[in-house]
Amino acid sequence: MPSPDKIKTILVIGAGTMGHGIAELAAVAGYKVFLADINNDIIKNGLEKIKWSLSKLSEKGSLKESVDSIMSRIVPVVNTDPQGNFTKEFENAIKESDMFIEAIPERLDLKQALFKFIDKNRKQDTIMATNTSSLPITEIASATSSPELVVGMHFFNPPPLMPLVEIIKGEKTSDNTVSVTYQIAKNFGKQPVIVKKDVPGFIANRVLARFLNTACWLAYKGLYSILEIDSAVRYSLNFPMGAFELADYSGIDVFYFVNKAMTERGFKMTHCPLFEQKFNSKELGMKSGKGFYEYP
Ligand code: CAA
Repeated sequence: MPSPDKIKTILVIGAGTMGHGIAELAAVAGYKVFLADINNDIIKNGLEKIKWSLSKLSEKGSLKESVDSIMSRIVPVVNTDPQGNFTKEFENAIKESDMFIEAIPERLDLKQALFKFIDKNRKQDTIMATNTSSLPITEIASATSSPELVVGMHFFNPPPLMPLVEIIKGEKTSDNTVSVTYQIAKNFGKQPVIVKKDVPGFIANRVLARFLNTACWLAYKGLYSILEIDSAVRYSLNFPMGAFELADYSGIDVFYFVNKAMTERGFKMTHCPLFEQKFNSKELGMKSGKGFYEYP
């Protein structure tokens, strides 16, 4: 049976916005971390962002160790070859790891293929967590032989600063898996909440989807400008970011996929077309230089 004390090495799959932030948290908490992605450029970019974030935290005196010593615990791993097959290097990292946290794009087919491969190569009793923002844990777990070890571990962007982590119990997730994952989130310095119902979007994203969609309709119908809506959200509701700022910051593609996954599974919401338009024209927010705002 998994136990928090047995977890020394964590494999984070995905070095993008969420993955590199999660890898940073694990390394700060003292774990050895494998950080995997499909090529060296993506991993290098993720490692640079971790270093930047750690330097910021270090300036503020929030780290107990030097940036270099934390960075030395993170080992990069390329997980696929040019044909898209999983690499031997990745297989070895799986064999050495005591826990997995997946943070790859929000596509069920990709996640299921990855979980199937991890499940085939992992040690016994290793927790397989997914940072999915919207897909049911039960659907991801169905690709494995041990759905009792599959759990949702949903972080918020940026993971190093946002306190909440949703720990989601799939239909077959064991209570032990939930409680060990809860403890690991605590070890990362987070405030976990247990989500017992595996509904698409869980808690926060169901609320957030309506908030962003409402803001979007106001702009789409020409009632208010994006700047007016964001000003109201920031300076009247007192949110740290406006709705469109937040969409640009976390990625318009992320919210597009989250909303799609939820409505495909029965969440009632009439999508504002602006999100899909931005997604189709690859205006994804900060990461692409343009979203609802421009980032020169
Ligand atoms: N690591 C370390 N430091 C960071 C950082 C990071 N990742 N990101 C920002 N900082 C630093 C900044 O550099 C800045 O440092 P200085 O004081 O030295 O200049 C400091 O933190 C404050 O940042 P900012 O001045 O940029 O602005 P801020 O005070 O607004 O804080 C924020 C930034 C914490 C991101 C805040 O704007 C915020 O909370 N925004 C909302 C984020 C949010 O709602 N996230 C959830 C998104 S939804 C999601 O993630 C779920 C999903 O599934 C899609």
